[in-house]
Formats: sequence, C-alpha cells, structure tokens
Amino acid sequence: LDEPGTDPFEVARQAAEQIAERTGVERHDVALTLGSGWGKAADLIGETTAVIPAHEISGFSKPALEGHGGMLRSIALPNGKHALVIGARTHYYEGHGVRRVVHSVRTAAATGATTMILTNGAGGIREHWTPGTPVLISDHINLTADSPLEGATFIDLTDLYSRRLRDLARTIDPGLDEGVYCQFRGPHYETPAEVQMAKTIGGHIVGMSTALEAIAARQAGMEILGMSLITNLAAGIQKTPLSHAEVIEAGQNAEAVISALLARIANAL
Ligand code: 6GU
Repeated sequence: LDEPGTDPFEVARQAAEQIAERTGVERHDVALTLGSGWGKAADLIGETTAVIPAHEISGFSKPALEGHGGMLRSIALPNGKHALVIGARTHYYEGHGVRRVVHSVRTAAATGATTMILTNGAGGIREHWTPGTPVLISDHINLTADSPLEGATFIDLTDLYSRRLRDLARTIDPGLDEGVYCQFRGPHYETPAEVQMAKTIGGHIVGMSTALEAIAARQAGMEILGMSLITNLAAGIQKTPLSHAEVIEAGQNAEAVISALLARIANAL
C-alpha cells in the first residue's frame, strides 16, 4: 500500500475478496468503524459469524503490540443485513500515510457496503455537552492539510454526513444533538488557542480521525453516518487539564448506553 506504484483500490479489492472468503459472506451491506467508547456495539447489533485479525487481510497493519491488533467482524443483523465491523482504525498521527488511514473504508466499500458508520471519541467545544454525550456529525473541517484523494480528483463534499441518516438516527433518539467535527492531526490535544480557532471557524467537536475516512467513503459512493462520543470538553473549555486516562474512562462509562443506541440505529437502516 505504501509503494507509489501500488493502486490502493486494487489492494482494497483483494482485501474484500479475502474477507468474503473467510466470512462466507459474499456481500456486506453496512460497515461500522468503532472508535473509543463504541466498541460494545459490536456485541449488540447482531450475531457475530466471523472474527478475523485485521493484519491477516491485505493492506491492514501489523499490530504495534503483540496481541493488541484490531479485529474485523462479520455480523448478521436481525434486520437480515450483514455488517462489517472494523475494530482496527489506523490513525493519521501514526504517520503511515493517508492510504493506510482510509484502507478499511475502501475495503468496506469493496465488500459491497453502501453505508459507512464512522464513530469516534472526541472533545466537545459546547459547554453543555457533558462527558458521555453522543453527538451526530453534521459536517467536518479537515485540519490535517491532507487528503485521501490522489491527483486531480475533484469531488463534491456537500451533505457528506447524510441528512437522511441523521434524521433516521433521531427517530431512535430525538434528543441527539449535532455538530461540526474538526479533525486535527494530533496526537497531542489542541491548545486552548487552537480550540478557540476551531470554535471561531465553525467547529463544535475536536478529534483526530473520521474526516479523512469520510472523504474516502464519499469517493467510494457510500452514504455516511458520523457520530462522536464527547469524552471531555476541549482544552480551555474544560477547566482541568486533559488526560488520555480521563478520555478512556469516560468512554468506558458511556459505552453501554451509546453502544445500545448505535445498535438500534444500525438495525433501523
Ligand atoms: Cl480535546 N481533542 C482531540 N483532538 N481528540 C480528542 C479530544 C480532544 N478528546 C478526546 N479525543
């Protein structure tokens, strides 16, 4: 995937073929990338019929720590559809390049998925979003200065995060708020001044994923639902310093409730 001469879509097609072979599922309908705090949704949305260590599939990275690699799961939903759950996100801040970041999305599209659900744990800019609040992503601001598109690929990003799917999510939870997600490169959290910048330019949520993946999903023609779990308020909005431990803990505390919500949304598709 890293060689300039390699076609990333060809690698995604190979990966999709391997997934079809190993799961026995010819066509997945929907794919879900589960970020911090969303992992339990995999157990709630349906019956897992196959689990594959992601690194055994073409283009997916070897785990940095032995035994800590991500899994791909094929799940039969009660509504009769097949879901591919991607528990192996490659973050942009890992420095392996944007092709690796979006490979799971391109693979999902190549398995036949027409809906891409992207979830993450993120910082909130709106003070009333207490830790544990799930928020629909209405649009994004990509602050990575990068793109998964190579060459002269001019695609439209209007309604990138499907209004239809946001409305559908609100039929499950009418109280769901929405906001504009800003993808920063990370892996450090933003300074308070950067958070103020994000607010000034129209952002409501700050994180380190999702936007680049959404662009690749749009290029692949998928309909996208984006959801953030607010694990903390962003620097300067929250009065106490941020810590990774706090982010993880907030994710764990909210996991049961938001995973159940996501499972209901996935089954309403
Ligand atoms: Cl405050 N910023 C970013 N970039 N990612 C986060 C976060 C903040 N909180 C959780 N994830």
